[in-house]
Amino acid sequence: MKDEGFDAGFPTEIVREGKVKIVVPKLKAFVTSPSEYAPSRAPVFYNPVMELNRDIAVLALQAYQRTLNREISVCEPLAGCGVRGVRFAIEVKGVKKLVVNDLNVRAFQLAKYNVRMSGLDSRVIVENEDANFLLSGYGAPRKRFDVIDLDPFGSPVPYLDSAIRALRGGGLLALTATDMAPLCGVHPKACVRKYGGKPLRTEYCHELAVRILAGCLAMTAAKHDIGVSIVFSHSTNHYIRVYATIKHGAKRADENIRNMGYILHCFRCLHREPAKGLLLTNGSGKCVECDSKINVAGPLWLGKIFDGQFCELLAKEIIQRTFKQRERILKILGRIKDEVEAPVTYYVLDKLCDMLALPVPSVRKVVEALRKQGFQASLTHFNPKGIRSNASAIDMKELLRKIQSSSGES
Ligand SMILES: C[S@@+](CC[C@H](N)C(=O)[O-])C[C@H]1O[C@@H](n2cnc3c(N)ncnc32)[C@H](O)[C@@H]1O
Ligand SMILES: [Zn+2]
Repeated sequence: MKDEGFDAGFPTEIVREGKVKIVVPKLKAFVTSPSEYAPSRAPVFYNPVMELNRDIAVLALQAYQRTLNREISVCEPLAGCGVRGVRFAIEVKGVKKLVVNDLNVRAFQLAKYNVRMSGLDSRVIVENEDANFLLSGYGAPRKRFDVIDLDPFGSPVPYLDSAIRALRGGGLLALTATDMAPLCGVHPKACVRKYGGKPLRTEYCHELAVRILAGCLAMTAAKHDIGVSIVFSHSTNHYIRVYATIKHGAKRADENIRNMGYILHCFRCLHREPAKGLLLTNGSGKCVECDSKINVAGPLWLGKIFDGQFCELLAKEIIQRTFKQRERILKILGRIKDEVEAPVTYYVLDKLCDMLALPVPSVRKVVEALRKQGFQASLTHFNPKGIRSNASAIDMKELLRKIQSSSGES
């Protein structure tokens, strides 16, 4: 990067992320106490915590580009200081054209500076529009993008329609959602309003959050006669991320609807079960195990939230990379690889053991014991104490009691 000296009119500094160096707001200058959230205080948005989000996005775009085996066009309509777009242009091979945009004029100016200083003027266009206005300009068939990455404040829902319309058939859409309080059931009304699905404050609420966002995407795409496949998703720090490819056609959209449904959950015994279909037909409203009231999350996406092949491609892509958080990403990818084919929802050992007033055994021990008994069992990246299994909540509790009594004997 050639630094010609940029006067943003506010304190800035140069940071290194991935293979790029960029100018960002000097976050320390905008907070008066350590408890303040610096990125939202600065005049232009930059959040160093999201570096891992951007690292995985780089892997995903490269993996996707390799599957197409041709040059791709990319749009980042909510770009902040431009770090994501600059990283895509430099770290992803085969990016022919990139449109980076932000409504905030100071973000636009900084992104433009970062693009110029990285020598990317010929491939990267920087715009200063409302994201929906910008995307609408790319909605016509020959203008559409191969990849759109929506990384907003809070929810990506306000931009879904225009992003779907601006994406080419087979294109890849990446979504970040940081509004975890609605999605995890702290503000259920806000979640229903935004996403059209009811959340539940269960121990697996982060998976529900992914499924609610994926369901909202699927239903939005269906309106346009477009089908979606969720190729990858992850829940990290304070956000969730969903990667989906789209295909045009009413039949494909009908498949979206077949993947929609509900998750029924009993807070008393922790029984849970998926119920496919947009019309909920569980008549009794009672838990089949303990007869208590059954609670409902959804409608949400009950289809796959990871694709095994895409996960393998991501794992291949990271081999050559020297990301700061490489080990953490490898761990996330490793866990996800194991949960690709696993049942919907996971148990959290702390929750089960708390209910049984038992000490918490190691997750590996429980996974082994479940497999020995012939159950499917795997860890999950969603929670370090989480286990996906086809064992029922009753089976899980019985097994935990057994583990405790046998460790008491030895
Ligand atoms: C979370 S930040 C983006 C961070 C960036 N993607 C990254 O990886 O660092 C969201 C950005 O969206 C911009 N924004 C908010 N509403 C917008 C709109 N309607 N159109 C375009 N940009 C908007 C904000 O100015 C802010 O810079
Ligand atoms: Zn029950």
